[in-house]
Amino acid sequence: MKKIGIIGYGNMGKVILDGFLASNILKPDDIIVSTRKIFKLDELKQKYPGLEVVSSNIITASKSDILFLFVGTSDIKDVIEEINEYISTNTYIIYISAALTIDSVEKIFNGKITKIIPSITSQVLNGVSLLCHNPLVSREEANYIENLFNNLGTVKIVDESDMDVGADITSCSPAFISKLLMEFALTASQNSGFTMEEAEEMIIKTFYGTSKLLYENKISLEDLISSVATKGGITEEGIKILDSEMPQIFNKLFHKTIEKHEIIKKQLKEHY
Ligand SMILES: NC(=O)c1ccc[n+]([C@@H]2O[C@H](COP(=O)([O-])OP(=O)(O)OC[C@H]3O[C@@H](n4cnc5c(N)ncnc54)[C@H](OP(=O)(O)O)[C@@H]3O)[C@@H](O)[C@H]2O)c1
Repeated sequence: MKKIGIIGYGNMGKVILDGFLASNILKPDDIIVSTRKIFKLDELKQKYPGLEVVSSNIITASKSDILFLFVGTSDIKDVIEEINEYISTNTYIIYISAALTIDSVEKIFNGKITKIIPSITSQVLNGVSLLCHNPLVSREEANYIENLFNNLGTVKIVDESDMDVGADITSCSPAFISKLLMEFALTASQNSGFTMEEAEEMIIKTFYGTSKLLYENKISLEDLISSVATKGGITEEGIKILDSEMPQIFNKLFHKTIEKHEIIKKQLKEHY
């Protein structure tokens, strides 16, 4: 069994590591983990005594065959430079920062690399994880990682060039969707006797039911709209408004996010 190292236990580190352990896809004894504020691992260590918690990234890295970097985007270079002389080209590095290109990482680490865009929705084992491997990753190694992430939801292999928009629709979208629902609830409460809390609860439950209906009954978005928005009815009036306003909003949104991806990518490239 390969030793799995984890560096960084923040929002995403917690979602992914806790998910691996809860689903039993990895055994605590196979994992070694370090993070900057080590007390953040106290609870996990109590729950899984077999887990090896260390205060040094160098120890984590030198003992690991597969090394997950769950630190912030701007910390990755420092961490790789810190551990570089303690790992070999046989070490397999996996990182989760959308804006950091694989060719940038290859400039400081000449080995197997996989970039993954995870989603906060992996916390409920319903995330869509986007994966891209560099050519040094064998099919067997790729299968192993894809299988791990399949336990947190679904895996989709994508070209790195599609990862920015991909990240927008799988990783950023829990925030976008929540914002849309919040505005919907706010306007509903302003036009009725419902409090914001009541409207939010009604909308979230309806959103959950809509997702289940689409997914479990394999209904297309277009068919669901047609079956609710009957000709000449009230829903149709609402759909007409959305039809005329939404494309501009989403065009603006993608314009901005793509621009921001490019700016961050350019800034990062200058540091590698
Ligand atoms: N949040 C999301 O939904 C999401 C989705 C997809 C991808 N991502 C990407 O995932 C990465 C992490 O995001 P996050 O939201 O999990 O950030 P985060 O909550 O700040 O977690 C980063 C963790 O790494 C630790 N860390 C930083 N430098 C370190 C070092 N030198 N040695 C050891 N540990 C170190 C931090 O320690 P401290 O606690 O001491 O600061 C923190 O616990 C980012 O690149 C982000 O773009 C996030």
